[in-house]
Amino acid sequence: MKKIVKKIVTAVAVALIPSWGGAAAIASVAPATIEARIDSLLSQMTLREKVWQLNQLNTADFDTLGTAVAQGRVGSIINEVNPEVVNALQRKAVEESRLGIPLVFARDVIHGFNTVFPIPLGQAATWNPSLVEEAARIAAVEASATGIRWTFSPMLDVSRDARWGRIAESAGEDPLLNERMGLAMIRGYQTDNLADPTAMAACAKHFAGYGYSEAGKDYNTTWLPLPLLEDVVLPPFEAAAKAGAATFMTSFNDINGVPSSGNKWLMRDVLRERWGFDGVLISDWNAITEMINHGVAADKKEATLLAAAAGVDIDMEGHSYPDVLEALVAEGRLDEAVIDGLVRNVLRLKFRLGLFENPYVDTSRPSPAFAPAHLAAATRAAEEGTVLLKNTGLLPFGKGVKKIAVVGPMADAPHDQCGTWAPDIRRERSVTPLAALRKLYGDRNVLYAPGLRYTRDRSCEGIAAAVKAAGDADAVLCFVGEEAVMSGEAHSMADLDLKGAQTELIEAVAASGKPVVLVIMAGRPLTIGRERDMADAVLYSFHGGTMAGEALARIISGKANPSGKLPVTMARMTGQYPMYYAHKNTGRPPEWTVELDSIQVEAPQTSTGCTSYYLDAGKEPLYPFGYGLSYTTFEISEPRLSASVMPMSGATLTVECTVTNTGKRAGAETVQLYVRDVVGSLARPVKELKDFAKVWLEPGESRVVSFTLAPSQLAFHGLDGKPVLEPGEFMVWTAGSSAEGTPVSFNLVENKLL
Ligand code: GLC
Repeated sequence: MKKIVKKIVTAVAVALIPSWGGAAAIASVAPATIEARIDSLLSQMTLREKVWQLNQLNTADFDTLGTAVAQGRVGSIINEVNPEVVNALQRKAVEESRLGIPLVFARDVIHGFNTVFPIPLGQAATWNPSLVEEAARIAAVEASATGIRWTFSPMLDVSRDARWGRIAESAGEDPLLNERMGLAMIRGYQTDNLADPTAMAACAKHFAGYGYSEAGKDYNTTWLPLPLLEDVVLPPFEAAAKAGAATFMTSFNDINGVPSSGNKWLMRDVLRERWGFDGVLISDWNAITEMINHGVAADKKEATLLAAAAGVDIDMEGHSYPDVLEALVAEGRLDEAVIDGLVRNVLRLKFRLGLFENPYVDTSRPSPAFAPAHLAAATRAAEEGTVLLKNTGLLPFGKGVKKIAVVGPMADAPHDQCGTWAPDIRRERSVTPLAALRKLYGDRNVLYAPGLRYTRDRSCEGIAAAVKAAGDADAVLCFVGEEAVMSGEAHSMADLDLKGAQTELIEAVAASGKPVVLVIMAGRPLTIGRERDMADAVLYSFHGGTMAGEALARIISGKANPSGKLPVTMARMTGQYPMYYAHKNTGRPPEWTVELDSIQVEAPQTSTGCTSYYLDAGKEPLYPFGYGLSYTTFEISEPRLSASVMPMSGATLTVECTVTNTGKRAGAETVQLYVRDVVGSLARPVKELKDFAKVWLEPGESRVVSFTLAPSQLAFHGLDGKPVLEPGEFMVWTAGSSAEGTPVSFNLVENKLL
């Protein structure tokens, strides 16, 4: 096993930046010191003690787990969030086990800990990386106060199929947006000093390709040709590795038949050698043993050999490593040096976290949970993550709206508004839309009738009361969507229409003749075209977290101006997925389409145009990637280029545009920079996001926004997976969504021709 063995320099530590130039983030304790200390510790460890460092267990009853820890049989623990228990287990590791190697405690802190922020898809909808970084920092402060020093976040799985429930945990369909949000989270969790007691090791997951689970069915197989893998799937992970993400996690899926936990090419050639990653690679839960189910290993020993060869350092609750690694060495099927390499990575993580010097959590400090500043940040994130999809002028409510009917199963759902992967919420701290609206408008002016007991409720019994409330009100707010359990892991859906009798509820209150605001609170885009047509305004909140209600009330009342933009395409029908803006043009792009119902009986075969679209859904999505309205209006000029010709190396191109707030109130617009490679040796996407900038403008204010385009951003990967940069015409847009803007062109030219 080829391992970069760091040259151990003199005892005087030299603060070396790792060879791959990774962020100082994890070089806070001089690497040379760490490597020397690893060598020393490793030389004292028995094979059994080495194997046990690679063993991560779920928390369990204290006696059983405590005994195993005292015997040195555990390297890390997941899901223990009681600081007293954390310290008691840590004392057994440090003071009772033979070598006193500290444990590291891990948890899925995916979008906040006690104070819950919008789900990652909702944070992506803010298009505001600094806000996402702030959210991650707050999550780390709250989680580390209980002893958690490792989170299994950010998830960097580009996903273009909303049937996949875990799209909720992603930053959506675009690799650049996933990269920018993922790096923001890594900075927030890790800070620039991983040994800081409030820092948490980040975990870039699920490496790789999990978002391409076939048919949006979770855990399913993926087929990823090299150009797709290298152009779309890997870039966010490469950025995370080079930014200093302390850990990576393997994905459950196979890529072209090779399960990630046994994928030597991906884990050693790409992650370790090409990207220079020297952190910890952990398997997903039981994913090593599951290679038996995949049918690539006959038993635990074969699965373990595949994982060890691939360089998986830790077996998460799989019980493969602890059960069979020693036997494999004894049988001569595995070299102990391979195990040494895995253990080195685990010890390095613990040194970098400062756990040898500072293993215990300080329980003397008051809990930072729900600090006012944390709740304020969560409110801002929920506000900026809410997307205004439609508004006939009803929003924000004016003085004419005094009595409000609040209906729908999501109006007062403190657990469900927090979304998936929120195990540490306290539901009594959630501010629901109903509570916030009552506070804002006064109890007597808010007429509440949920209509349904929960989103899947098929009973229409409560709808009459909702209709009555609508009749007695000036306007209706209808909160629908998904319960938390309907998105996230193992929660794929074959049909994305609203469940239960939600549509019937919306129809009934719309029939009252009162103006209706539809507010969808969900973990993914839903196919809400019919319901959208029944409403005067539509707000989309990707499960907004603890303060979702506060944020929505502030938007509805006009105290806040929505600025969210879709991080994922909203299809008209489920069958259109996978659907995404960066699609190929095909040989038959539809210039026009025919509506199914307008086709004459016995119409001729070719009467529908013979181009690429659906007869029953057309060619467009319901709403495109990057789309979102505001209470004001903006104008974005055509791009202005610093040159019409760009050399293939040695120069960059500046792209400028002017964005103006042409409306009557302050607001934020996200200017998006898209590029198209018009002709390539492979068919290229019709558009690709290359940068974005969110700007806040007063009424009438204009701002010049400037982007820099480098040749490397115009490259792609050939069929062999190798990077390719080709001369030719490129189109450039600066726009407020992927479906707007007037392009200008430039030519990328070989230097010798200039
Ligand atoms: C789960 C998930 C992964 C999570 C891990 C630990 O199955 O796939 O995202 O971090 O197990 O809970």
